[in-house]
Amino acid sequence: MSTTVIILAAGKGTRMRSSLPKVLQPLAGRPLLGHVIETAKNLQVEDIITIFGHGGPLVQQAFADENIQWVEQAEQLGTGHAVKVTLPVLPDSGMSLILSGDVPCVQQSTLQRLIDSSMATGIGLVTLTLPDSTGYGRIVRKDGKIQAIVEHKDASDGQRQIKEINTGIYCVSNARLHQWLPQLSNNNAQGEYYLTDIVAMALADGLEIASIQPELAFEVEGVNDRTQLAALEREFQAWQAVKLMQQGVHLIDPTRFDLRGKLTVGQDVRIDINVIIEGNCELGDRVEIGAGCIIRNTRIAAGTRVQPYSIFEDAVVGADVQIGPFARLRPGARLADQVHIGNFVEVKNTQIGHGSKANHLAYLGDAEIGAGANIGAGTITCNYDGVNKHKTVIGDDAFIGTNNSLVAPVSIGTGATTGAGSTITRDVADHSLAVERAKQISKENYQRPQKVRK
Ligand code: UD1
Ligand code: CA
Repeated sequence: MSTTVIILAAGKGTRMRSSLPKVLQPLAGRPLLGHVIETAKNLQVEDIITIFGHGGPLVQQAFADENIQWVEQAEQLGTGHAVKVTLPVLPDSGMSLILSGDVPCVQQSTLQRLIDSSMATGIGLVTLTLPDSTGYGRIVRKDGKIQAIVEHKDASDGQRQIKEINTGIYCVSNARLHQWLPQLSNNNAQGEYYLTDIVAMALADGLEIASIQPELAFEVEGVNDRTQLAALEREFQAWQAVKLMQQGVHLIDPTRFDLRGKLTVGQDVRIDINVIIEGNCELGDRVEIGAGCIIRNTRIAAGTRVQPYSIFEDAVVGADVQIGPFARLRPGARLADQVHIGNFVEVKNTQIGHGSKANHLAYLGDAEIGAGANIGAGTITCNYDGVNKHKTVIGDDAFIGTNNSLVAPVSIGTGATTGAGSTITRDVADHSLAVERAKQISKENYQRPQKVRK
């Protein structure tokens, strides 16, 4: 049977006190709604319909690349009304999985269990037993069977004692949605069309309500304010950390590790405290990341050691490389195996060949550096003339003296040497020496100016 996913994302999220629509607030570096869409996609469903309202265009723009059907709910008249606006585009048969855009952590396995158990009955929901159920819709059961969902505001004192709550995740037959949703009324404490009222309709039609509970409670936690967002972020990070440790990663302190994206790892990767990994990253076997590093969209091959406080973005790093502390690899930095990049070295759009070293205080931008080269401390590739970027080429085994300015476009030959303090503006031939600096003046017995005492 085919399944459609309906994601409710029209609510305003007033309590976030933000100009950004709630479903665009980031959890682990990605919008709440993005997490839900990804999980839905992994279920390989027929279609994903997202109901938008508040901040509509912004929400749609954020997911412009996704194959999603958007349905507008111009006025937010309740969760039942939200699903009702999808009826014109909802298939007549099959099932619909109904999710909330602000419940980002629900797992594919949980949703699959819900779908499987709802198939037989035509309606099922995910419930959870909580120590404190305040605010949620309560699950009313009789002889173990679900009788109703009563919203907190509509509940009697007795019903408010119920600890089993509605998580807002449902799977319902499309035929039934077409039948039931037009019959909803807003005769309740909030004057809203409640989706939860379909439970009573199902019972009236003689259906039984299937229910499952999630494996982990955080899967169904919603986000209404920034405190909840921060709390869920920690839970999500802890969960990701456990998964990485199960894959063999040595996280020195999982509570001080943040992954905002996807990390692929080899064996025996070691990550020290306060490291942030963003986007798509890959760390090969035995890679060691020192404390405080930030790594975004970067691939680091086996055996490479990164010392503390180094920053990477869109870089590719070979095997057995040594980096940092305090190194910065910017987009287009490509380091071959066994390269050394030391403290306060910045590398941008630059390729560095096997075993080359830039150990201290350098800027290497728009350069192509061969193998076995040594870049002296304080060397700068002067790649920018104020308008255009120019390239610096440094051959294999070249030796760039300390504190050189290499004014691009310029090329230093294979095995060439430049003297300390040189400003190199013209090409240097293979195996030659270029020195460019004023001759030193020496005065013997020189008297410095004397201070006159008054
Ligand atoms: C809903 C459930 C409640 C459940 C709780 C779980 C109803 C009546 N109640 O309550 O039983 O315990 O979720 O968190 O369904 N939305 C729209 N359009 C609307 C109204 C809401 O798209 O007109 C969206 C919201 O953006 C949100 C979701 O639906 O993503 C849930 O809405 P919300 O107002 O938070 O429902 P609750 O009152 O929390
Ligand atoms: Ca609410």
